[in-house]
Amino acid sequence: MRVEKIGVIGGGLMGSGIAQVAAYHGLDVTLVDVNQARVDRAIEAIKGRLQREAERGRISAEAAEAAAHRLRGSADIDELTSVARAEAVIEAVVEDLEVKTRIFRQLGRVCRPDALLASNTSSLPLSDLAAASGRPERVIGLHFFNPPWALKLVEIVSTASTTEETLQDALQLCQQLDRVTVQVKDTPGFIANRLLVPFIFDAIELLQTGVASAEDIDLACRVGLNHAMGPLATADLIGLDTLKAIAESMFEEYGEPRFKAPTLLRRLVSLGYLGRKTGRGFFRYT
Ligand code: NAI
Repeated sequence: MRVEKIGVIGGGLMGSGIAQVAAYHGLDVTLVDVNQARVDRAIEAIKGRLQREAERGRISAEAAEAAAHRLRGSADIDELTSVARAEAVIEAVVEDLEVKTRIFRQLGRVCRPDALLASNTSSLPLSDLAAASGRPERVIGLHFFNPPWALKLVEIVSTASTTEETLQDALQLCQQLDRVTVQVKDTPGFIANRLLVPFIFDAIELLQTGVASAEDIDLACRVGLNHAMGPLATADLIGLDTLKAIAESMFEEYGEPRFKAPTLLRRLVSLGYLGRKTGRGFFRYT
């Protein structure tokens, strides 16, 4: 199935990035968020990024403009005839099982019967979302990486009810979006976060026990381990609230201390220091 129209639910860091990638690759995109202000903010953010990419010569000005024209937004899934007609929908709302379950129930009601229903969840049980949709055979995980316009990996996550046809449709969609894919079963954290989250938590432990400064922890990883980004800057990029939510579901599932959110992470989230998106996390951003 070739996708021409796609719905993206959630216009935050990931949803807006996925919508941008889809529009850039020629798909008509409808982006849905909780209210019109958030929808407008997401679409403005995408247009701004497309423009900057064009100014830096990474994409042509024509491609940026064409992508911007393929974007529309709405604050209501139910009223969206365009999502109802979309061949695929990617959900990228907050990492909260209750919210996501409600959305999959809604998607099962409003989307065309053969639509591919995907979630960008990092750690929540996809099987629960599949069951809520009422059409579990069409539900699959498409776990994009942050930021989606720069990182090409997608982890494709199958549940026990995902059919081969659904997997093939997901692979084709990823090909349309020029993604590199890996396939993985429905397990908390899949491949990348299962490895990354305990690593970031060890870095936070080093910081909270005063072993080294945030700057030096990240510098050691960048220069000594040749990582593109240090673990604390990576945490700030992910969003500390999202990281905490990912940790909570991984800890609940695995019960292992290495997945438990460190105290300092929880305290920063309580203070509203959520990383880059709020201008302050482990580091400050202007
Ligand atoms: P975010 O906090 O930047 O954005 C979440 C968005 O969801 C907000 O715009 C919010 O208004 C919207 N939202 C909440 N409830 C909604 C509803 N009922 N209907 C429509 N929109 C709703 O979060 P972020 O970082 O974009 O994460 C979204 C998903 O992507 C999560 O499942 C997360 O685990 C996953 N993810 C996050 C990555 C990251 O590095 N931040 C990387 C890969 C996946």
